[in-house]
Amino acid sequence: MRTLLTEAELREGVIRLARQIESQYQGKTLTIVAVMTGSLVLLADLMRMIRLPLRVGVIQASSYRGGTVSGDLVTESEMLLNVCDHDVLLVDDIFDTGRTLDHLTQLLQTRGAKSVASAVLLHKLRKHEVTMRPDFSAFEIPDEFVVGYGLDFLDMFRNLPHLAVLDPTEIEAARKQAKS
Ligand code: IMP
Ligand code: MG
Repeated sequence: MRTLLTEAELREGVIRLARQIESQYQGKTLTIVAVMTGSLVLLADLMRMIRLPLRVGVIQASSYRGGTVSGDLVTESEMLLNVCDHDVLLVDDIFDTGRTLDHLTQLLQTRGAKSVASAVLLHKLRKHEVTMRPDFSAFEIPDEFVVGYGLDFLDMFRNLPHLAVLDPTEIEAARKQAKS
């Protein structure tokens, strides 16, 4: 596995993100809605670095069903907190096709949020399928499949402290590992 971003680089990126978010929401109470499960590690780090009155909730969305290719989007909003009349920041691990954040932005708007913005750790440089873009992002990365720091392949590798690129032979090996 090739390391794309080290633990130290990730930390600096998350600090940068936190400072940008703070300056944008000065004097306000912010409601973070984190997209599970990929943003789990980012959420834990980011929320402790944001010095603002903060509400935190989660929503579940998955588009990678068992592979590296984006499939149908499945969302589960049962655990979503009340967003009506709140300034909401969607937090996700990565902006890839963009369909997840595009869909969730609209969902939060229909739930009556006062404002909806989005923050991601990674912005994949590829052709996106939507017109919206995240308001905050820490790193731009090439169009490769990455794991670690919360990002998974078949629910594996989320626990890596750094961000790594999986090459095709490793993808095959990981597929076997995930089954055993
Ligand atoms: P989008 O809807 O295509 O933007 O995809 C966003 C979701 O796909 C993210 O929340 C991730 O969970 C997942 N995803 C996209 N690219 C990668 C990747 O390179 N590695 C792991 N997960 C990814
Ligand atoms: Mg995700």
